[in-house]
Amino acid sequence: MEDVGGEDKEAIAPEVDLLVQARNEAKKRGDYDEANAIATRLCAMGVLVERDAHGTVTWRWQEIRPKKMGRIVRRTGKTSGEALPAECIRSAMATEGFAELVKEGRLSFDPEAYPFEKIIREGFGLADEIPLSKLHCGLLGDSFDSETSCRTAKKKLLRPLGPDQPTRHELNALYDRFICEVVAPHVAACLPSDRILYGQCCVRVQPPAAKPIGVPHCDSHYGHQAGQINFWLPLMDVDGACSLHVESAPGARDYHPLQLQYGECARFYGNRCTHFTVANTTNITRVSLDFRVVPGPVFDPDPEASRGKDGSQRFTVASGGFGKNCSGKAYYRECCWDEERGSYAVL
Ligand SMILES: [Fe+2]
Repeated sequence: MEDVGGEDKEAIAPEVDLLVQARNEAKKRGDYDEANAIATRLCAMGVLVERDAHGTVTWRWQEIRPKKMGRIVRRTGKTSGEALPAECIRSAMATEGFAELVKEGRLSFDPEAYPFEKIIREGFGLADEIPLSKLHCGLLGDSFDSETSCRTAKKKLLRPLGPDQPTRHELNALYDRFICEVVAPHVAACLPSDRILYGQCCVRVQPPAAKPIGVPHCDSHYGHQAGQINFWLPLMDVDGACSLHVESAPGARDYHPLQLQYGECARFYGNRCTHFTVANTTNITRVSLDFRVVPGPVFDPDPEASRGKDGSQRFTVASGGFGKNCSGKAYYRECCWDEERGSYAVL
């Protein structure tokens, strides 16, 4: 999020008033591109726009995830990953290969060969004739109200994907294979790596909603290490208010929605680039996967910023892939180049 302190907040409040007014006017004349662009700007400034019971549009400063962020900051005693990596890691991060990897990019994959959407659909038990983007209609029907019930709906929708559910095991097995066959070669093409560390695969469901979920942030705020690259894989075509918004380089502030089709996966440097979602004012439920990868040459096994208060490492590495170990506590699994097979394999 843009760093807006107390005094600065007061100073920019008139600018926020004008932006909110401009957004309302753009909506009234049906210029939704302009309205969404302003909404993105407001969201990045940490502003939450609301409508009161009388229909009047108001705004307030969005709180920074008080519970979760507070807990992490207390445990690490830090607000961002500032630990200096060892010399060899720093050298690897200074290479052209790593510079290429932290640029925003995308990879394509064959949805037939990697049927993420099919597994998720089956997990939800969604009827064939209902597109995944209409999940909220298919499973929640008339009980769903985008103004009020978004969080409850998400909880309900995600139940079949809990850690010990068969769908989660199936998804994890596919995810391991996707990492070995698609992501690791993609990463190694930029930064030669015979070892890739990869984090858990998160499934996110975002039904239409009147408010954004979460706040603009960089993953370093949560103690993640600097060599980490983010991947975001939506299970449907996304753009505008329905997509993830990112900046193209740390501090660039050129926030923009990722425009992707199913079969594409975005790559971005979420560790240092601000990213966030805006209120999903579309009538589409966004379902997406996201995960973080660290190429072996820049992986720090024990960064100071990721240690708990007792000094123990919070993001540890385990072997065996996520397919069989999805309820394990370690954050990372690793896949390595197998010379005999001529491919990457989960270690
Ligand atoms: Fe993030």
